[in-house]
Amino acid sequence: SRKKKLLNKTFLVTAGPTFEKIDPVRFIGNYSSGKMGYAIAEELAGSGAKVILVSGPVNLEVANSNISLVSVESAEEMYLECQKYFSVTDGAVMCAAVADFTPLQPEITKTKRGKNNWNLELKPTADIALSLGEVKKKNQVLAGFALETNNELENASQKLHKKNLDFIVLNSLNDPGAGFQTDTNKITIIDKDNNHQNFELKSKKEVAVDIVNKIIDTLKN
Ligand code: C5P
Repeated sequence: SRKKKLLNKTFLVTAGPTFEKIDPVRFIGNYSSGKMGYAIAEELAGSGAKVILVSGPVNLEVANSNISLVSVESAEEMYLECQKYFSVTDGAVMCAAVADFTPLQPEITKTKRGKNNWNLELKPTADIALSLGEVKKKNQVLAGFALETNNELENASQKLHKKNLDFIVLNSLNDPGAGFQTDTNKITIIDKDNNHQNFELKSKKEVAVDIVNKIIDTLKN
């Protein structure tokens, strides 16, 4: 069957937010729950694949013993773990909401309350998906996500090409029930041949099945 294609395959999945330390007690984060990434990891593992799940801080548990959980906090840590594992995989699904900026110099001690403004200087983080796209081999599948608020299709398609992805999963913040924190999602899959597939609003578990089906279709062997 189609699912047999995933037996003996290994995938890297990133999930959740990243936390960027400002000082010992504060961080910059985002609203990602990790639910979509964990659902994809579970669906891949349930189909017989091995999964390396590189996850930022989330309140979720891993159920399938085919999933190896690698917990990270920052974008930098997530980048290093992905660099470590990608070459031994058959592909990666970049589901994490990685911070785009991180403090230039986190404070060593807790910053005290005061009357002056706190000007926090941020530097860009590495784009993990882009870095994997640069070293991707012919037989590896690379999938990304795009969460857009405007010019959705155009922005998603630009990211697909810039990062050398095989396909990108677009979810719009304009769709009720899609995006962060919810248990449901409404997606469009755009692939590098510019095929568009629109899906109905459904549970993130069911969305994960659609995404894994696209991975199976994209795998060369
Ligand atoms: O460019 P943008 O952040 O919108 O792209 C989103 C896609 O890129 C997602 O697949 C996300 O996981 C990935 N990404 C990444 N590393 C970053 C930023 C985004 O892997 N630093």
